[in-house]
Amino acid sequence: MQEKILEYLKKKEDYASGDQLSHRLGISRQALWKHIQELKESGYDIVAVPHLGYRLVSSPDRLFAFEVTRDLNTKFIGKKVYYFDSLNSTMNVAMELGLKGLPEGTIILAESQTKGKGRLGRSWFSPKYKGIYLSLILRPRILPSQAPILTLLSAVSFCEAIKEVTGLDPQIKWPNDILLAHKKVGGILTELSAEMDRINFVVIGCGLNVNNDKKALISGATSLREHKKEKINRVSLLQEILRKIETNLLFLEAKGAKPILEKWREYSVTLNKRVKVYCQKEHIEGEAIDIDADGALLVRKDSGVVERVSSGDVVHCR
Ligand code: BTN
Repeated sequence: MQEKILEYLKKKEDYASGDQLSHRLGISRQALWKHIQELKESGYDIVAVPHLGYRLVSSPDRLFAFEVTRDLNTKFIGKKVYYFDSLNSTMNVAMELGLKGLPEGTIILAESQTKGKGRLGRSWFSPKYKGIYLSLILRPRILPSQAPILTLLSAVSFCEAIKEVTGLDPQIKWPNDILLAHKKVGGILTELSAEMDRINFVVIGCGLNVNNDKKALISGATSLREHKKEKINRVSLLQEILRKIETNLLFLEAKGAKPILEKWREYSVTLNKRVKVYCQKEHIEGEAIDIDADGALLVRKDSGVVERVSSGDVVHCR
Protein backbone atom coordinates (compact mmCIF):
# COMPACT_ATOMS: atom_id res chain seq x y z
CA MET A 1 0.00 0.00 0.00
CA GLN A 2 2.82 2.40 0.92
CA GLU A 3 4.33 1.79 -2.52
CA LYS A 4 1.04 2.77 -4.14
CA ILE A 5 0.78 5.94 -2.06
CA LEU A 6 4.32 6.93 -3.02
CA GLU A 7 3.72 6.12 -6.67
CA TYR A 8 0.69 8.41 -6.65
CA LEU A 9 2.40 11.25 -4.80
CA LYS A 10 5.49 11.03 -7.02
CA LYS A 11 3.39 11.21 -10.20
CA LYS A 12 1.22 14.03 -8.85
CA GLU A 13 4.17 16.31 -7.96
CA ASP A 14 1.61 18.48 -6.14
CA TYR A 15 -0.92 18.17 -3.33
CA ALA A 16 -3.13 15.11 -3.54
CA SER A 17 -6.35 15.44 -1.60
CA GLY A 18 -6.84 12.88 1.16
CA ASP A 19 -10.32 12.05 -0.16
CA GLN A 20 -9.07 11.45 -3.67
CA LEU A 21 -6.15 9.37 -2.49
CA SER A 22 -8.11 7.16 -0.09
CA HIS A 23 -10.84 6.68 -2.70
CA ARG A 24 -8.30 5.71 -5.38
CA LEU A 25 -6.60 3.23 -3.08
CA GLY A 26 -9.82 1.87 -1.60
CA ILE A 27 -8.83 2.58 2.02
CA SER A 28 -10.25 4.80 4.76
CA ARG A 29 -8.87 8.28 5.50
CA GLN A 30 -7.69 6.94 8.82
CA ALA A 31 -5.80 4.03 7.22
CA LEU A 32 -4.25 6.48 4.74
CA TRP A 33 -3.09 8.72 7.58
CA LYS A 34 -1.48 5.72 9.30
CA HIS A 35 0.42 4.73 6.15
CA ILE A 36 1.58 8.33 5.70
CA GLN A 37 2.94 8.35 9.27
CA GLU A 38 4.85 5.12 8.55
CA LEU A 39 6.31 6.58 5.37
CA LYS A 40 7.40 9.66 7.31
CA GLU A 41 9.10 7.38 9.85
CA SER A 42 11.01 5.76 6.95
CA GLY A 43 12.31 9.22 6.02
CA TYR A 44 9.84 10.41 3.37
CA ASP A 45 9.15 14.10 3.88
CA ILE A 46 5.41 14.38 3.29
CA VAL A 47 3.55 17.53 4.24
CA ALA A 48 -0.13 17.56 5.08
CA VAL A 49 -2.05 20.81 4.60
CA PRO A 50 -5.75 21.12 5.54
CA HIS A 51 -8.03 21.43 2.46
CA LEU A 52 -5.10 20.70 0.13
CA GLY A 53 -4.00 17.22 1.16
CA TYR A 54 -0.62 15.50 1.06
CA ARG A 55 2.51 16.42 -0.89
CA LEU A 56 5.80 14.51 -1.17
CA VAL A 57 8.63 16.99 -0.61
CA SER A 58 11.59 14.59 -0.67
CA SER A 59 12.53 10.93 -0.51
CA PRO A 60 15.21 9.52 1.80
CA ASP A 61 18.57 8.34 0.53
CA ARG A 62 17.73 4.64 0.84
CA LEU A 63 17.90 1.71 -1.56
CA PHE A 64 14.37 0.49 -0.70
CA ALA A 65 13.25 -2.33 -2.99
CA PHE A 66 10.35 -0.34 -4.43
CA GLU A 67 12.62 2.64 -5.21
CA VAL A 68 15.07 0.36 -7.02
CA THR A 69 12.43 -1.52 -9.04
CA ARG A 70 10.48 1.63 -9.96
CA ASP A 71 11.11 2.41 -13.67
CA LEU A 72 13.96 -0.13 -13.71
CA ASN A 73 12.73 -1.64 -16.98
CA THR A 74 14.83 -4.79 -16.98
CA LYS A 75 13.74 -8.23 -18.17
CA PHE A 76 15.07 -10.37 -15.30
CA ILE A 77 17.66 -8.54 -13.19
CA GLY A 78 16.15 -7.03 -10.05
CA LYS A 79 12.71 -8.56 -10.47
CA LYS A 80 13.12 -9.82 -6.91
CA VAL A 81 14.88 -7.53 -4.44
CA TYR A 82 15.76 -8.36 -0.83
CA TYR A 83 16.58 -5.23 1.14
CA PHE A 84 18.23 -5.07 4.58
CA ASP A 85 19.20 -2.13 6.73
CA SER A 86 22.14 -4.14 8.07
CA LEU A 87 23.52 -7.61 7.38
CA ASN A 88 26.70 -9.52 8.12
CA SER A 89 27.26 -9.99 4.38
CA THR A 90 24.92 -9.96 1.37
CA MET A 91 26.96 -12.93 0.09
CA ASN A 92 25.74 -15.18 2.91
CA VAL A 93 22.09 -14.37 2.28
CA ALA A 94 22.53 -14.72 -1.48
CA MET A 95 24.12 -18.18 -1.08
CA GLU A 96 21.19 -19.27 1.15
CA LEU A 97 18.61 -17.92 -1.29
CA GLY A 98 20.47 -19.46 -4.23
CA LEU A 99 20.30 -22.87 -2.54
CA LYS A 100 16.58 -22.35 -1.95
CA GLY A 101 16.14 -21.94 -5.71
CA LEU A 102 15.48 -18.20 -5.99
CA PRO A 103 15.43 -17.19 -9.66
CA GLU A 104 18.21 -15.72 -11.73
CA GLY A 105 18.37 -11.97 -11.34
CA THR A 106 17.40 -11.91 -7.64
CA ILE A 107 19.38 -9.22 -5.82
CA ILE A 108 20.25 -8.74 -2.16
CA LEU A 109 21.01 -5.23 -0.95
CA ALA A 110 22.23 -4.03 2.43
CA GLU A 111 22.69 -0.46 3.64
CA SER A 112 25.61 -1.69 5.75
CA GLN A 113 27.51 -4.91 6.39
CA THR A 114 29.14 -5.96 9.62
CA LYS A 115 31.28 -8.67 7.98
CA GLY A 116 31.55 -7.54 4.36
CA LYS A 117 33.76 -9.98 2.44
CA GLY A 118 36.50 -8.98 0.02
CA ARG A 119 38.66 -11.08 -2.29
CA LEU A 120 41.33 -13.43 -0.92
CA GLY A 121 39.78 -13.57 2.55
CA ARG A 122 39.91 -9.81 3.10
CA SER A 123 37.10 -7.74 4.56
CA TRP A 124 35.05 -5.07 2.80
CA PHE A 125 34.44 -1.84 4.70
CA SER A 126 30.68 -1.21 4.39
CA PRO A 127 29.56 1.93 6.26
CA LYS A 128 25.85 2.66 6.46
CA TYR A 129 24.05 4.55 3.66
CA LYS A 130 27.36 5.43 1.99
CA GLY A 131 27.92 2.73 -0.57
CA ILE A 132 26.26 0.10 -2.70
CA TYR A 133 26.59 -3.44 -1.32
CA LEU A 134 24.92 -5.83 -3.69
CA SER A 135 24.84 -9.56 -4.37
CA LEU A 136 23.25 -10.89 -7.53
CA ILE A 137 22.16 -14.48 -8.16
CA LEU A 138 22.81 -15.81 -11.66
CA ARG A 139 22.14 -19.25 -13.13
CA PRO A 140 24.26 -19.26 -16.29
CA ARG A 141 24.41 -22.21 -18.65
CA ILE A 142 28.20 -22.25 -18.84
CA LEU A 143 30.96 -24.47 -17.42
CA PRO A 144 32.41 -23.64 -13.98
CA SER A 145 35.74 -22.88 -15.69
CA GLN A 146 34.02 -20.13 -17.72
CA ALA A 147 32.61 -18.36 -14.65
CA PRO A 148 35.36 -15.66 -14.50
CA ILE A 149 33.82 -14.02 -17.59
CA LEU A 150 30.87 -13.07 -15.35
CA THR A 151 33.21 -11.22 -12.99
CA LEU A 152 34.82 -9.37 -15.90
CA LEU A 153 31.37 -8.60 -17.27
CA SER A 154 30.28 -7.17 -13.91
CA ALA A 155 33.37 -4.98 -13.65
CA VAL A 156 32.71 -3.64 -17.16
CA SER A 157 29.04 -3.01 -16.31
CA PHE A 158 30.04 -1.08 -13.18
CA CYS A 159 32.41 1.10 -15.20
CA GLU A 160 29.81 1.77 -17.89
CA ALA A 161 27.19 2.73 -15.30
CA ILE A 162 29.57 4.96 -13.31
CA LYS A 163 30.60 6.72 -16.51
CA GLU A 164 27.03 7.23 -17.64
CA VAL A 165 25.61 8.44 -14.32
CA THR A 166 28.53 10.52 -13.00
CA GLY A 167 30.63 11.35 -16.05
CA LEU A 168 33.71 10.06 -14.20
CA ASP A 169 36.32 7.84 -15.87
CA PRO A 170 36.71 4.56 -13.97
CA GLN A 171 39.29 1.93 -14.84
CA ILE A 172 39.75 -1.74 -14.02
CA LYS A 173 42.81 -3.16 -12.32
CA TRP A 174 43.12 -6.89 -12.93
CA PRO A 175 41.20 -8.90 -12.04
CA ASN A 176 38.26 -6.76 -10.95
CA ASP A 177 39.19 -3.73 -8.87
CA ILE A 178 37.37 -0.60 -9.99
CA LEU A 179 39.69 2.40 -9.75
CA LEU A 180 39.35 6.15 -9.97
CA ALA A 181 42.60 8.06 -10.41
CA HIS A 182 44.55 4.92 -9.31
CA LYS A 183 42.62 4.47 -6.05
CA LYS A 184 40.15 1.69 -5.38
CA VAL A 185 36.49 2.72 -5.51
CA GLY A 186 34.87 -0.70 -5.92
CA GLY A 187 35.45 -4.41 -6.11
CA ILE A 188 33.77 -7.61 -7.19
CA LEU A 189 33.72 -11.00 -5.53
CA THR A 190 32.28 -14.09 -7.19
CA GLU A 191 31.16 -17.22 -5.35
CA LEU A 192 30.00 -20.41 -7.05
CA SER A 193 27.77 -23.28 -6.16
CA ALA A 194 28.81 -25.88 -8.70
CA GLU A 195 29.51 -29.50 -9.49
CA MET A 196 32.52 -30.55 -11.60
CA ASP A 197 30.85 -29.79 -14.91
CA ARG A 198 27.76 -27.78 -14.02
CA ILE A 199 27.05 -24.48 -12.29
CA ASN A 200 24.08 -24.51 -9.92
CA PHE A 201 24.27 -20.78 -9.43
CA VAL A 202 26.74 -17.92 -9.18
CA VAL A 203 26.65 -15.04 -6.73
CA ILE A 204 28.26 -11.84 -7.95
CA GLY A 205 29.05 -9.55 -5.01
CA CYS A 206 29.73 -5.91 -5.76
CA GLY A 207 30.85 -3.21 -3.38
CA LEU A 208 31.15 0.43 -4.39
CA ASN A 209 32.16 3.47 -2.33
CA VAL A 210 29.66 6.10 -3.40
CA ASN A 211 29.06 8.93 -0.94
CA ASN A 212 31.84 8.26 1.57
CA ASP A 213 33.60 11.36 2.89
CA LYS A 214 37.30 11.47 2.09
CA LYS A 215 38.20 11.43 5.79
CA ALA A 216 36.18 8.29 6.47
CA LEU A 217 37.82 6.17 3.77
CA ILE A 218 40.44 3.53 4.44
CA SER A 219 43.89 4.20 3.01
CA GLY A 220 44.26 3.60 -0.74
CA ALA A 221 40.51 3.87 -1.25
CA THR A 222 38.37 6.59 -2.76
CA SER A 223 34.68 7.27 -3.36
CA LEU A 224 32.70 8.60 -6.30
CA ARG A 225 31.73 11.61 -4.21
CA GLU A 226 35.36 12.52 -3.58
CA HIS A 227 35.85 12.90 -7.34
CA LYS A 228 32.45 14.21 -8.36
CA LYS A 229 32.46 16.75 -5.49
CA GLU A 230 28.75 16.24 -4.95
CA LYS A 231 26.41 13.70 -3.45
CA ILE A 232 25.41 10.94 -5.86
CA ASN A 233 21.92 9.47 -6.14
CA ARG A 234 22.56 5.85 -5.16
CA VAL A 235 19.20 4.59 -6.49
CA SER A 236 19.81 5.95 -10.01
CA LEU A 237 23.35 4.59 -10.02
CA LEU A 238 22.28 1.15 -8.82
CA GLN A 239 19.50 1.00 -11.41
CA GLU A 240 21.97 1.80 -14.18
CA ILE A 241 24.39 -0.86 -12.87
CA LEU A 242 21.59 -3.46 -12.99
CA ARG A 243 20.57 -2.40 -16.52
CA LYS A 244 24.15 -2.60 -17.76
CA ILE A 245 24.69 -6.04 -16.19
CA GLU A 246 21.55 -7.31 -17.92
CA THR A 247 22.46 -5.80 -21.29
CA ASN A 248 25.95 -7.30 -21.11
CA LEU A 249 24.62 -10.72 -20.04
CA LEU A 250 22.25 -10.78 -23.02
CA PHE A 251 25.13 -9.64 -25.21
CA LEU A 252 27.30 -12.47 -23.84
CA GLU A 253 24.59 -15.00 -24.60
CA ALA A 254 24.16 -13.71 -28.14
CA LYS A 255 27.75 -12.94 -29.14
CA GLY A 256 30.00 -14.95 -26.83
CA ALA A 257 32.81 -13.68 -24.58
CA LYS A 258 34.86 -11.79 -27.18
CA PRO A 259 33.05 -8.41 -27.11
CA ILE A 260 33.01 -8.41 -23.29
CA LEU A 261 36.75 -9.11 -23.18
CA GLU A 262 37.24 -6.30 -25.68
CA LYS A 263 35.33 -3.86 -23.46
CA TRP A 264 37.31 -5.07 -20.41
CA ARG A 265 40.58 -4.34 -22.25
CA GLU A 266 39.40 -0.79 -22.97
CA TYR A 267 38.82 -0.12 -19.27
CA SER A 268 41.96 -1.94 -18.14
CA VAL A 269 44.69 0.00 -16.41
CA THR A 270 46.84 -3.14 -16.02
CA LEU A 271 47.49 -4.16 -19.62
CA ASN A 272 50.78 -3.01 -21.15
CA LYS A 273 52.15 -2.18 -17.71
CA ARG A 274 55.09 -3.69 -15.88
CA VAL A 275 53.52 -5.61 -13.00
CA LYS A 276 54.29 -7.76 -10.02
CA VAL A 277 51.58 -10.34 -9.42
CA TYR A 278 51.52 -11.83 -5.94
CA CYS A 279 49.97 -15.28 -5.97
CA GLN A 280 50.18 -17.29 -2.75
CA LYS A 281 53.84 -17.34 -1.67
CA GLU A 282 55.51 -16.40 -4.95
CA HIS A 283 55.35 -13.43 -7.22
CA ILE A 284 55.72 -13.07 -10.96
CA GLU A 285 57.20 -9.96 -12.50
CA GLY A 286 56.98 -8.83 -16.10
CA GLU A 287 54.76 -7.06 -18.62
CA ALA A 288 51.00 -7.66 -18.49
CA ILE A 289 50.33 -8.35 -22.16
CA ASP A 290 46.72 -9.55 -22.22
CA ILE A 291 43.96 -11.56 -20.58
CA ASP A 292 42.77 -14.86 -22.02
CA ALA A 293 39.20 -16.03 -22.59
CA ASP A 294 38.97 -17.21 -18.96
CA GLY A 295 40.07 -13.85 -17.57
CA ALA A 296 43.57 -15.06 -16.60
CA LEU A 297 46.35 -12.47 -16.86
CA LEU A 298 49.19 -13.19 -19.30
CA VAL A 299 52.51 -11.87 -18.01
CA ARG A 300 55.64 -11.85 -20.19
CA LYS A 301 58.64 -12.27 -17.92
CA ASP A 302 62.03 -10.75 -18.78
CA SER A 303 63.12 -14.20 -19.98
CA GLY A 304 60.42 -13.97 -22.66
CA VAL A 305 58.37 -16.77 -21.10
CA VAL A 306 54.66 -15.94 -20.85
CA GLU A 307 53.03 -16.99 -17.56
CA ARG A 308 49.29 -17.38 -17.13
CA VAL A 309 48.01 -16.17 -13.75
CA SER A 310 44.45 -16.96 -12.75
CA SER A 311 44.32 -15.28 -9.34
CA GLY A 312 46.40 -12.94 -7.27
CA ASP A 313 47.13 -9.32 -6.47
CA VAL A 314 48.68 -6.95 -8.96
CA VAL A 315 51.08 -4.13 -8.22
CA HIS A 316 51.74 -1.77 -11.12
CA CYS A 317 55.47 -1.03 -11.22
CA ARG A 318 55.46 2.01 -13.51
C1 BTN B 1 37.15 -7.04 -3.43
O1 BTN B 1 37.87 -7.50 -2.53
O2 BTN B 1 37.58 -6.18 -4.21
C2 BTN B 1 35.74 -7.50 -3.58
C3 BTN B 1 34.80 -6.76 -2.68
C4 BTN B 1 33.35 -7.20 -2.76
C5 BTN B 1 32.48 -6.53 -1.74
C6 BTN B 1 31.02 -6.82 -1.93
S1 BTN B 1 29.98 -5.77 -0.99
C7 BTN B 1 28.60 -6.73 -1.40
C8 BTN B 1 29.05 -8.16 -1.33
N1 BTN B 1 28.94 -8.64 0.03
C9 BTN B 1 30.13 -8.90 0.56
O3 BTN B 1 30.30 -9.31 1.72
N2 BTN B 1 31.09 -8.68 -0.32
C10 BTN B 1 30.56 -8.22 -1.60
